[in-house]
Amino acid sequence: MISRRSVLAGSAALAGAALFGRPDRAPAFTRALPPAAEPGAERIVSLDLKAAERRLTLPCFDGHELPLWTFTDKAEPPVVRMKLGQRLDTHLVNGLTRTGEHVSIHWHGIRLPNDQDGVPYLVQPPVEPGESYDYSFVPPDTGTFFFHTHCNSAEQIGRGLIGILIVEGDAPEPYDADEVLTLRDWRISEDGTSFLPFLTMEGAGKAGTFGTVRSVNGRRNPEIVLPASADVRLRILNVDPTRLTEIGIEGAEAAVVAIDGLACQPFPLRSWRMGPAMRADLVIRTPADGGSATLVDYFAPKPVPLARLTARGPARRQGPFNPAPLAAARITPPDLAAAIRMPITFSATATGATVQELADSGAPLGPLCLSEGNLWAINKASWPSDMHQIPPPMAKLERGKTYLFELRNVTPHMHPIHIHGHSFTVLKSNRRDLPPHHADTVLLQPKERMEVAFVADNPGKWMFHCHIIEHQETGMMAWFEVA
Ligand code: C2O
Ligand code: CU
Repeated sequence: MISRRSVLAGSAALAGAALFGRPDRAPAFTRALPPAAEPGAERIVSLDLKAAERRLTLPCFDGHELPLWTFTDKAEPPVVRMKLGQRLDTHLVNGLTRTGEHVSIHWHGIRLPNDQDGVPYLVQPPVEPGESYDYSFVPPDTGTFFFHTHCNSAEQIGRGLIGILIVEGDAPEPYDADEVLTLRDWRISEDGTSFLPFLTMEGAGKAGTFGTVRSVNGRRNPEIVLPASADVRLRILNVDPTRLTEIGIEGAEAAVVAIDGLACQPFPLRSWRMGPAMRADLVIRTPADGGSATLVDYFAPKPVPLARLTARGPARRQGPFNPAPLAAARITPPDLAAAIRMPITFSATATGATVQELADSGAPLGPLCLSEGNLWAINKASWPSDMHQIPPPMAKLERGKTYLFELRNVTPHMHPIHIHGHSFTVLKSNRRDLPPHHADTVLLQPKERMEVAFVADNPGKWMFHCHIIEHQETGMMAWFEVA
């Protein structure tokens, strides 16, 4: 099913990335982005979530039930679809009484008011077992987002506490179908009956601890039926705590139309690296009736098929593939001439250097919200092991000013760096030719330096961290204040 060309392409990607990012001479799509969507009338969308342990099964569990932690009675994460302008009112109940976990919900990528951001101790009290908490906000942007708890995250996300949030209104010309593809692994024991530890010192000190079972929408390499000869929107979310995926489509033309929810000028997809928490919206022209295409991961010794996309029914489109762009993002453009530069370095700590010894010594990991081990640092500071003690901010930003972060990765590992409450305009990298785009999570490759800018237009206390959850929980986390 995977062609020889793709195998070669896959190894090229591994060897240094001919595929990754913007292709050199690929034809650009010609259609300009329509203006930003206007919010519709405010109407309330209600969402009831109860975080609890539930023994449930998914097709990728091979018939076993596992002690998932979920927000609803279903094993699949809830998918919330709402329209731009609507208000999301969420009632969260913490039913994790057996384990005594506290929770909160972070609405990843949503530029919301600070007190709705869901970071325990920093902007709200943790929601203790038996307690409830209400969130209410109007998402300001259209696009593909998700939400997750923000404490003991390796385990809470590892067991399933996530949901998908889609804000509609960005497609002035409807596509022929709109599918959500949620990529994630599960850490399942060999006999299939229990979870493996979600955080290991060895993994935390390197690329992270990978899952043992990969899934797309809860299934291994599922078949997804799409209309034939059609322009189909695929909303791809990497919600894994750890694994980076380099997506590509074999057997169909594909364009990237949005990154982290926000429209970009469509560009041809050859491959695109998605670290944990990153999203990409694709438009693909599906094959004729009966044909199929494959979603693959090139970030592996051999490309891994993730999903089969089977085309069925009468042809919907003719003529060359020139996908309709999404409505432009509503991000205030950074004022680069007046930008305040801030170098931000991501490194290992002294402990990180000796992580192997620590792992060998069997040093205990504390009851997380934050492990005892500090392996990683941002500008030489590690988030303290005790999450309940908020360290001083890494920076205070003046509201309304443009900041240019020079992100420097001095480690040999990848770090998907996430900013709360804002979206970066990605400017440049010393290692890659990147398409112009916005992002709330940027993938810093080993030794890479990247420049990103944003207007500090959202007052409050905002987290800034690596989204490889084990890195986050072992120190690669900071916060800044906008006032
Ligand atoms: Cu999706 Cu602070 O994280
Ligand atoms: Cu990291």
